[in-house]
Amino acid sequence: MKKRVGILISGRGSNMRSLIAAASLPGFPVEIVLVISNAINAEGLQHASAAGVATKVVSHKAYETREAFDRAVTHELEAAGVEIVCLAGFMRILSTWFARHWEGRLLNIHPSLLPLFKGVHVHEQALAAGVRVSGCTVHFVVPELDAGPIIAQAAVPVAIDDTPDTLASRILVEEHKLYPAALKLVAEGRVRLEDGRTVFSKG
Ligand code: GAR
Repeated sequence: MKKRVGILISGRGSNMRSLIAAASLPGFPVEIVLVISNAINAEGLQHASAAGVATKVVSHKAYETREAFDRAVTHELEAAGVEIVCLAGFMRILSTWFARHWEGRLLNIHPSLLPLFKGVHVHEQALAAGVRVSGCTVHFVVPELDAGPIIAQAAVPVAIDDTPDTLASRILVEEHKLYPAALKLVAEGRVRLEDGRTVFSKG
């Protein structure tokens, strides 16, 4: 049985597109059943609809607290039978309630080699630090921002003349490969969250 996956976006949705494309390939253990955006004008929403995936907008502005918004999002995800949630450029900080509710079933992609460069302005942080290698990380989400147990990482070289934009583009190419690969591992049960650590099984 394919796992039912929901994706949360806020904008462009290129990682969402890579997940939808992967899920359309034969043998991929996932069906993307719902895309939710907190922003009505998120570019990714059109792409999801065009690919035949159901979409919903849940505006954070309609809720007084983070947790009330997160509960509304969860209501939509559960109504669609979602089993695994992928954050893909979802630029809202999640409540502890949401992280605990979806524990072990909630993934995020972040454009740095965590635990380096959490939060926003990630590529500016990397360039300011002078690292010669950066990359991207897929991790299980825990209440603390960008701190969850790591599932997969990909590294890219930092060029001496990189700007935040050129570095972001080089990393994005890797994100589009890494996220489907990491989701596949989780959907197949080959990677799981146990006692706050990522556990890999063979097979
Ligand atoms: C991606 O680079 C993703 O890693 C990053 O935002 C971009 C979204 O692009 N996410 C974060 O910074 C989360 N902390 P996309 O909408 O085209 O997937």
